[in-house]
Amino acid sequence: MYQDWEELEEVCKNCRKCRLCTNRTNVVFGTGNRNAEIMFIGEGPGADEDAQGIPFVGKAGKLMNMAFEGVGIKREEVYIANIVKCRPPGNRNPEDDEAEACMDYLRNQVMLVKPKKIVLLGSVALKNILGKEYGITATRGKKIEKKGIIYLPTWHPAALLRDESKKIDFWNDLKSI
Ligand code: URA
Ligand code: SF4
Repeated sequence: MYQDWEELEEVCKNCRKCRLCTNRTNVVFGTGNRNAEIMFIGEGPGADEDAQGIPFVGKAGKLMNMAFEGVGIKREEVYIANIVKCRPPGNRNPEDDEAEACMDYLRNQVMLVKPKKIVLLGSVALKNILGKEYGITATRGKKIEKKGIIYLPTWHPAALLRDESKKIDFWNDLKSI
C-alpha cells in the first residue's frame, strides 16, 4: 500500500499487470475529492474516458452528472473511480483476473480517501467489491454495511441509457445517500 497519492498514481500510470494495458490510451486513475465522504465506483473506462484519462466523461457520465445536479451532489466533492483503470476492448466487462490485478489500486484509493459511503455503480462493481453472490437487481437501493463503510449498490448509469425506467431508481438511490 502507498501512503502517498502521487506515488500511487505514478505506479498506476505505468502499470502492466494485466492485458488491458496493451490497448489503452490513458490509465483512468480516478478523480475528485481525495478526502470525500462519498466514493463512486464504476466498471471501467469507455472510449471517452480512455481518450481523456478521466472517469465518467462520456454519455453515461453526462447522465450521472445530471443526476448529481438534480439531487445536489457536487462532482468535485465526491471521489470517482472504476474497478479497472484501463479500457476493456469494445467495452466488454472486465475479466475476473483483470479486476483482481487492478483491485489493489482501488483498495489503496479507498484506504487513502477513507469514505463513509461507497456507491457501487452496476453489477461489475457490486460483485467485485461485495462478492459474486450479490445480484444488482435484488440489492440495488439497499444499504449494506461492512467494516465501517456503508455500501449502496445502484444501477450503472449506462443502464439508464438503455432503460429509461431505471432513472427514477437511480435518482432515489442517490438522494438516499
Ligand atoms: N462507465 C464506467 O463504468 N466507468 C467510466 O468511467 C465510464 C463509463
Ligand atoms: Fe494495471 Fe489495472 Fe490497467 Fe490492468 S487495468 S494494466 S491492472 S492499471
